[in-house]
Amino acid sequence: MKPKVLVTREIFDEVLELLRQHFEVSDNQGDAVWGPEDLAQRLADKDGVMTSIVDRIDAALLDRAPRLKVVANIAVGYNNIDVAECTRRGILVTNTPGVLDEATADFTWALILGAARRLTEAEAYLRGGQWKRWELKQLLGADVHGATLGIIGMGRIGQAVARRALGFDMQVLYWNRHRVAPEVERRCNATFVSKEELLARSDFVTLHCPYTPETHHLIGASELRKMKRTAILINAARGGVVDDAALVAALRDGTIAAAGLDVYENEPNLHPEFLRLKNVVLAPHIASATHSTRLNMAKKAALNLVAALTRGDPPDLVNPEAKRRG
Ligand code: GLV
Repeated sequence: MKPKVLVTREIFDEVLELLRQHFEVSDNQGDAVWGPEDLAQRLADKDGVMTSIVDRIDAALLDRAPRLKVVANIAVGYNNIDVAECTRRGILVTNTPGVLDEATADFTWALILGAARRLTEAEAYLRGGQWKRWELKQLLGADVHGATLGIIGMGRIGQAVARRALGFDMQVLYWNRHRVAPEVERRCNATFVSKEELLARSDFVTLHCPYTPETHHLIGASELRKMKRTAILINAARGGVVDDAALVAALRDGTIAAAGLDVYENEPNLHPEFLRLKNVVLAPHIASATHSTRLNMAKKAALNLVAALTRGDPPDLVNPEAKRRG
């Protein structure tokens, strides 16, 4: 008998086909919204599940999924999953590293440029019929070329963002838990500094770290006060890394100049004040959303599921300790 797997959200048909070659698959191609109870009922007899970042996989759910052996998240971040609880139960957890770095870095640059040059504000002005004439001082923005870029989190995505800064003749500072290898620093032309120095010197501060208890509100009121009043904050990492209420206050009172955001606390119910502020470019968590990248993410999650349930050895295992308990 084939193992049973659940796919919690709509995915690409070709990925579903791949899964069907190996498993008895329950899908959600209608993309219905399932609450925790729906999910629990559907997981009761499943060996594996392919999840999205909006599915909360916690102890209460796992209690009701006694056969579950693997959770394959279609994302590089996995803060939606209680990994420690999975590990305790011998359940493998996988993610999708590598395939979304470039698309996410591209989109980070869309936010940097959009926020610096007030692109969404300018478009709203034009669409709203306010553009009556050309003016020398109309919608003046900030220079990106030649500015200082501060990168918090210098993993694969942070490095991809840094490499793109070379083309804008920027000075790149970074802060990371560990200093990266000298050849990486050279390739990215990036200088390791303290968080305080990065905040004080950067014209743009961009976040590329995972969301963990350690990075919760890594940028809050006191960090925002350390930034330049002309600085722009970019978050395409995870909601919760920034204290959104503090950011709203900082944008409103001019503590910093602007922000470009793809992620928020409490998505999709972002802080309502963001919608009223002009000096913030807002996107609905789409940094990795190109056709090829999302397809590759879904394929990678599917291959993890196949490897986990056939050999017990998925390539992108985030909790190797779970194998000893399985
Ligand atoms: C998207 O947010 C991801 O973590 O891949």
